[in-house]
Amino acid sequence: MRAATRAVVAVLATTATLSFVVQPVQAHPQAKSLRSVAPRDLRIGTAVAGGGHHVDQPYPDPFTYDKPYRKVLAKEFNSASPENQMKWEFIHPERNKYNFGPADAIVRFARDNGQVVRGHTLLWHSQNPAWLNEGTFTDAELRSILKKHIFTVVGRYKGKIQQWDVANEIFNENGEYRPENIWISRLGPGIVADAFRWAHQADPRAQLFLNDYGVEWPGVKVDAYEALAEQLLAQRVPLHGFASQAHLSMRYGAPDQLAGVLQRFDDLGLKTAITELDVRMDLPEGGVPTAEQLQTQASYYKTVLDACLAVDNCNSFTIWGFTDKYSWVPVFFPAEGAATVMRDDFGKKPAYYALRDTLARARR
Ligand code: XIL
Repeated sequence: MRAATRAVVAVLATTATLSFVVQPVQAHPQAKSLRSVAPRDLRIGTAVAGGGHHVDQPYPDPFTYDKPYRKVLAKEFNSASPENQMKWEFIHPERNKYNFGPADAIVRFARDNGQVVRGHTLLWHSQNPAWLNEGTFTDAELRSILKKHIFTVVGRYKGKIQQWDVANEIFNENGEYRPENIWISRLGPGIVADAFRWAHQADPRAQLFLNDYGVEWPGVKVDAYEALAEQLLAQRVPLHGFASQAHLSMRYGAPDQLAGVLQRFDDLGLKTAITELDVRMDLPEGGVPTAEQLQTQASYYKTVLDACLAVDNCNSFTIWGFTDKYSWVPVFFPAEGAATVMRDDFGKKPAYYALRDTLARARR
């Protein structure tokens, strides 16, 4: 018991109301948040809203300007993933110009609030700047552009990033490399190994991940990742983890085989993570989910958390935003929405309580 509490207890003991009063006197500011009840070896994260689709919305940059948002962000989570602020188009908008300010601000906020940061992302087909997509570079130039970017960005945050999504969404649903990935299509799949090697040289302590969606059920896409992981590990490439984004829709059923998928990568000696969980639904007219929909959504969230908890080295569980106010879902999936664990006003949905109860039970 801390000294201040002891003093209060001493006074109150004489009034015989001790057991009733002691608790509230020292109520911890983190009491009952997701992070405070979670098992100590599991990070609870969220995407940090800004950039990307937010730029076209009728509100100012959420992370920078929404004070209540920042409060919930600090209170509930001990891991933070820049939603867009470390992507190529955002952080490297011109060939010789970097825009580090917003990413720096997130890293600072995370440090001040006892949060780790997941870096996202280094080698991806999407959200690349026009100068890169439309440039006329030789293969050798392209390779050196990627190498320089990785050394610059990973190097800048050296020691401050817990996990990097080095390669994002490199496979199609059929398990083949995505033809629209400029790096792989121009330089060949060997560039993936190089990206991991460069990231490792730039920050030897960061855990380096493969990250994708559509890997929540077994299938050819998961097979492709397993084969790639085995190959990279056999080549002594510094690959440390495999992550399921877990962008789910209630149209397709609960991810009830996810633990089995994660276990296959755990068996290879890799860490696993859930990196972008949200659960979208078809909204009824009026846009307000029914009580039944919210229960189903809660059960999906719980299924994903249970899967992570069931696997030894699944130590990072991140949801892709915590309030519907800023979710990317309605912008990208017409007619679907309400995908996060809180309403626009940060009111908690059943999914929030499902996560918190499950975390609290797992900690005990
Ligand atoms: C999304 C962001 O949430 C949006 O703000 C942006 O406009 C588009 O990208 N997989 C990923 C994430 O790896 O980076 C994507 O984030 C969602 C799908």
